[in-house]
Amino acid sequence: MSSVIATTAIRGRFLDIQNTVAQARDIHDQVRYVEDGLLITQYGKIHWFGPWEEGQVHIPAGVSVQHYPDQLIIPGFIDTHIHFPQTEMVGAYGTQLLEWLNTYTFPTEMQFADKSYADKIAAFFVQELLKNGTTTALVFCTVHPESVDALFEAAEQHQMRLIAGKVLMDRHAPEELCDTPERAYQESKALIEKWHGKGRNLYAITPRFAPTSTPAQLEKAQQLKAEYPDVYLHTHLSENKNEIAWVKSLFPEQQGYLDVYHHYGLTGSRSVFAHCVHLEEQEWDCMHQTDSAIAFCPTSNLFLGSGLFPIHQTWQKQVKMGLGTDIGAGTSFSQLRTISEAYKVQQLLEQNLSAYEALYHATLGGAKALDLDDKLGNFNVGKEADFIVLDLNATALQTLRQQHSKGLEDSLFALMTLGDERNIQATYIYGQCAYVRD
Ligand code: GUN
Ligand code: ZN
Repeated sequence: MSSVIATTAIRGRFLDIQNTVAQARDIHDQVRYVEDGLLITQYGKIHWFGPWEEGQVHIPAGVSVQHYPDQLIIPGFIDTHIHFPQTEMVGAYGTQLLEWLNTYTFPTEMQFADKSYADKIAAFFVQELLKNGTTTALVFCTVHPESVDALFEAAEQHQMRLIAGKVLMDRHAPEELCDTPERAYQESKALIEKWHGKGRNLYAITPRFAPTSTPAQLEKAQQLKAEYPDVYLHTHLSENKNEIAWVKSLFPEQQGYLDVYHHYGLTGSRSVFAHCVHLEEQEWDCMHQTDSAIAFCPTSNLFLGSGLFPIHQTWQKQVKMGLGTDIGAGTSFSQLRTISEAYKVQQLLEQNLSAYEALYHATLGGAKALDLDDKLGNFNVGKEADFIVLDLNATALQTLRQQHSKGLEDSLFALMTLGDERNIQATYIYGQCAYVRD
């Protein structure tokens, strides 16, 4: 590859968060806004970033500059929890978690035994991520290994950094969706060997949730995690009150829901637990002590009536957290819409979520939750060049609102309140433009 093709130079207004923080109040000091900036990427990584005036001399001869004078360029959004096979069933009416799974989810997931069907939905799904400015996601597939192949193959076409895995389920689900402890182990192992660390792909051991795995299967998950310690663990935790009661009845010897996972060695710095709406005090402590992460999925928690997740507790208890769309219980692929609902959930708890804090959770904080903050989440030199170009004026109402903006933070907040995929003008993956809005 010639250096010209390998190099991208972008000029515009850049906004990111420079460093991870321990408290929400520290985020403001880490906000970096470069009004007229330049980003140079080389072979997918950030090679130079700073003011245009200083940076021009670093642009290699023959490289043309893409200029976005009116837009806002931020790091790509990170979705810490989403199900690709549920794309087609978003907005399934009228039930809460356990009934929703049996009525809508399991029948939908059965179709993914067919590789060509999985390929079709995976291609649609990846395109939808790009369209919404999501450049990295932690993704549930189905029990079928074919579904994992389909997703990673689709992601590879854009060199997208995805984390995904085959679902493990050996009880309380239709037979067609169940594996066994041994099959779960063998199929996951083969997929780890095939995909983990291949290009930008990473693997997650993915027990659906405690009720659908026998103790024998959780032991196999434990064995896999011990054999491949840098692989992720991705599951659901404490989403719905009936679910929690069910787990307690299935695992009476454990101290609570999280203790089931902890008992089988599934907590840790690469473990991500979706929802955590109803954590008990000792569970917060366990999340902190094991450096485990939470995926907060507001549109899903509201849609399924699961409950209100308190962001302020993550700061208080020092637990890593990112935002998740949780398609298809969640109702949008858009992180902007997700942020807007996250804000409203905090309002109902008489808490707040500032625009800069929301930006943090959607980018660098999400990267930290996925243990990828050394690679993703901001414009620091050496990081992978995943970023998005935001048009703040995608509708007449947005334009009017932005004309009355009281400054950058207010502009960003208005974007987060009114925005969606229409605001994503372009998405860059690994330095290359992977999506441009029509
Ligand atoms: N808990 C177990 N499976 C699921 C799922 O597919 N979606 C959600 N939201 N929660 C779950
Ligand atoms: Zn989920």
